[in-house]
Amino acid sequence: MNSDPVIEVRGLCKRVTDATGELTILDGIDLTVHAGGSVAIVGASGSGKSTLLGLLAGLDSASAGSVRLLGHELTGMAEDQRAALRNGSVGFVFQSFQLMPHLTALENVALPLELQGGLSTREAFARARALLERVGLGQRTSHYPKLLSGGEQQRVALARAFVTHPAVLFADEPTGSLDAATGHAVIDLMFELNRANGATLVLVTHDIDLAKRCDSIVTIEAGHRVIDGAHAAHEASRVEAGR
Ligand SMILES: Nc1ncnc2c1ncn2[C@@H]1O[C@H](COP(=O)(O)OP(=O)(O)O)[C@@H](O)[C@H]1O
Ligand SMILES: [Mg+2]
Repeated sequence: MNSDPVIEVRGLCKRVTDATGELTILDGIDLTVHAGGSVAIVGASGSGKSTLLGLLAGLDSASAGSVRLLGHELTGMAEDQRAALRNGSVGFVFQSFQLMPHLTALENVALPLELQGGLSTREAFARARALLERVGLGQRTSHYPKLLSGGEQQRVALARAFVTHPAVLFADEPTGSLDAATGHAVIDLMFELNRANGATLVLVTHDIDLAKRCDSIVTIEAGHRVIDGAHAAHEASRVEAGR
């Protein structure tokens, strides 16, 4: 496969200034993600994983370095341009689900389509309903988030993320709020939807078994990318397998 990278990061730095002075959160990250692949970002709590994900997805802007997402240079791009790129091409799943509490499951899933425009309300709702059925929630379409279990809420969030057929799905600890069995079911569904859509997956997780299900693993330590023994072995096995 010789496709252009979906994400290409060079020398990425993120610095913030707070009451105690300047803090460097990410320092000189290089990273390439190819179309249709999956990459796990792992590292200790506070190492900079969520910050990195936000920069890759165009939710946040870098202090230095370059991020190319789907051929667009994000560094220096205005927020409204980044928002337009996100609306058209990117899906998100978060640890805390982040569903709209005053909207039903169906309305939550239809919302990105309505924001995008282009479809009639009837078409948007039909597509949202089909996706809720796909994630096993055909009987829960008119429920509000607070009436759904954590696993059900995360499945609604997956349906919402995929309803626009995003080229890239970004997931930040999507099982972090779920028990192990529920988490596994949600992850299986996420990989399945990802494959069916031909989407590229960028997954932040502290679960190494989950990370190993991805094509490659990126380890972040205190804002730097590192390659440790276990992951180096994983990389070597990929090279051997010719991927
Ligand atoms: N806006 C901010 N202002 C100050 N510190 C921040 C900000 N965002 C993140 N941090 C700090 O940067 C570090 C990395 O945060 P984060 O990317 O959330 O880590 P992770 O997702 O790996 O747990 C943490 O020490 C966090 O407190
Ligand atoms: Mg985080």
